Amino acid sequence: MARRKMLVGNWKMYKTVAEARAFAEALGRLSGRLSDDLEYAICPPVTALQTLRVVMPTKVALGAQNVYFEPQGAFTGEVSTDMVKELGARYVIVGHSERRTLFCETDDLVQKKVQAVVAAGMVPILCVGENLVERDAGETLPVVRRQTERGLAGLSGAAVAQTVVAYEPVWAIGSGRTPSAEDAEVVIAAIRGVIAEQHGLEAAEAVRILYGGSVKPNNIAGFCGQPNIDGALVGGASLEAESFVAMAEAMAGGDNA
Ligand code: PGA
Repeated sequence: MARRKMLVGNWKMYKTVAEARAFAEALGRLSGRLSDDLEYAICPPVTALQTLRVVMPTKVALGAQNVYFEPQGAFTGEVSTDMVKELGARYVIVGHSERRTLFCETDDLVQKKVQAVVAAGMVPILCVGENLVERDAGETLPVVRRQTERGLAGLSGAAVAQTVVAYEPVWAIGSGRTPSAEDAEVVIAAIRGVIAEQHGLEAAEAVRILYGGSVKPNNIAGFCGQPNIDGALVGGASLEAESFVAMAEAMAGGDNA
């Protein structure tokens, strides 16, 4: 059973509502170039979800970049799963390295958020990845194993099968540096192996695992051509409609190669 490849944009803290609308309108003009063989999602700042829900081409799903795990309460500044779902989010990025490092998110908190997203009927995009110190110490595989195990702990095999994991080496994010496609494939195959151990072969075969970190139109096909890499999570290069479409075309072309 082939896994459908995904192109996911993570806009981080970029774009006002007006800017998000302009992107969606530009993407609408280019959307004939988005192959139906792929899945697409954009994760904008939460402030733009409502507008994008109306103006984004229907081929492109929406996601949130973060949620809190409690359903409601006195948690100043946080948003809940129901709040983003109501605004049209189908996906929620959980455990992005910027949240782990800048906002002190622990494996335990990430796990609670993943469970809350699944319970709300949305799809978590669980981010895992080693930093440069860990990589240089040869700890890449133990780190991604721990983050994957802890992030998905407590989920049924059926829930894991629906989940998306993104392998994002921290040193590759926004840096212009990437591992080779072959090195990313090794780590992503190992993540799939961890999921097979913990949640069964069926879940491991179905779960989609993306690569993220300095993905651009000119390198995406190499990553997505690897047998275990099911697409990409893209920051900077997802901010322009033309670049988003160019990545989609490179991915679709790679499929046919
Ligand atoms: P980048 O970000 O594509 O700008 O490196 C990727 C991410 O942080 O998801």
